[in-house]
Amino acid sequence: MPMSPAEIATLRELMEFEAKRTAPPEGFPPLPDIPAGRYTDPRFFTLEQEHLWRKSWLLAAHIDELPAKGDFLLWESAGQPVLLVHGDHGAINAFYNTCSHRGAPVVTEPRGNRRRFTCPYHGWSYNRDGELMAVRDPEDFCDLDLSQRGLKSIRCERFGNIIFVNFDHDAPTLFDWLGPLAAEWEEFQFDNCRLAARHVFDLNCNWKIAMEANTEVYHVRSIHATTVAPVLDDRRNVNTLYPNGHGRMVAPMPAGKQTIEIMPVPPDIAQIDSVGEIGRTCTQSYGVFPNWVVPLSQYVIPPLLFWPNGIDKCRMETWTLAPAWKEGMRPDLWTENNGAELCAVLQEDTQFGEKIQKAMQSYGFHGVPLSYQEARIYHWNQSADRLIGIENIPPELRVAQVIGDEWIYPNDPRRRLLQSRRGATGD
Ligand code: FES
Ligand SMILES: [Fe+2]
Repeated sequence: MPMSPAEIATLRELMEFEAKRTAPPEGFPPLPDIPAGRYTDPRFFTLEQEHLWRKSWLLAAHIDELPAKGDFLLWESAGQPVLLVHGDHGAINAFYNTCSHRGAPVVTEPRGNRRRFTCPYHGWSYNRDGELMAVRDPEDFCDLDLSQRGLKSIRCERFGNIIFVNFDHDAPTLFDWLGPLAAEWEEFQFDNCRLAARHVFDLNCNWKIAMEANTEVYHVRSIHATTVAPVLDDRRNVNTLYPNGHGRMVAPMPAGKQTIEIMPVPPDIAQIDSVGEIGRTCTQSYGVFPNWVVPLSQYVIPPLLFWPNGIDKCRMETWTLAPAWKEGMRPDLWTENNGAELCAVLQEDTQFGEKIQKAMQSYGFHGVPLSYQEARIYHWNQSADRLIGIENIPPELRVAQVIGDEWIYPNDPRRRLLQSRRGATGD
């Protein structure tokens, strides 16, 4: 379903509302400083490991990476050894790559195809559904119940062609986790887009520093003065805050401009036909809790993912999904020379990461005062604390829960205000 005409009209009105306002909207709370320790304190890093990465739905793979029955992929981006397997009945299964005998890794290659997964240590053998099928010398075990000794499974669900895992068996479904995003993304055809490019880059900063550079438009005129700024009207940007920490920005292009001007995609690339007016004429970018950002358009679905690699290092993954491309013309929004280096815009975004990390680790840094424009970052932090469990966080590392549910979609005082103005003028 494309975005409705009424919703498009409301977004356009909200853009003008944002451009005209002379202060944050009435009732929007002052945002207390984000404690510095959330970027530098090993205690917060440990809390993220124990809760955030363990309870969130994490984007792990694209179906094109394991298209046939028996294809497998070893996935360790979240710090846990995860074996993704294309099962016999079409589902993608996820298991810990940990043998139920004495804990050896069942596979050691990054990818391949198997009918059975036979542990290299003592030869226990599992099928594609993780069931233990045979052990060597079974007569030497007393009461070994094979049905209880399969590979330990991990939640694994798909949205279109992209595959998510969640280490928490009590987590909501992926569909519930995504909430309104699932319907809003229908027009972008996640079920029809193929994986064109996927690369990884090491950065020397906390993963949130790297991600937050893509979670606000306040930096655009400084960092992207000649690249993004000419095609993005940041004063008309409209942020939306969704349940579970997700967020969206929609900013129009100045008249006569097109984002294709800064997108290094082949000019004749196949388009995602169902993308509506906002996707075609605005920068529409989602922040998906906990660790990815995706600007969506009629050309590509290009997630940027951020993974911690220690408290002061991270890995950024750059993906490009597209409906189709000509032989030898694979679109890759984010890199040059097939992953050899980052594109100009991402070089601008990442250039200060290491220096910011060092500056944040100084005695002089205590916290981050965020503006209304940067509210998506605050919303992310509030949601992170709820997932971690506020009582688990030392008080000096918490963020106050000041953005109330009245600001979380579908609630939005700005929309109510527009409605009442319309009512007043009889429109
Ligand atoms: S550890 Fe796998 S068979 Fe022994
Ligand atoms: Fe940027």
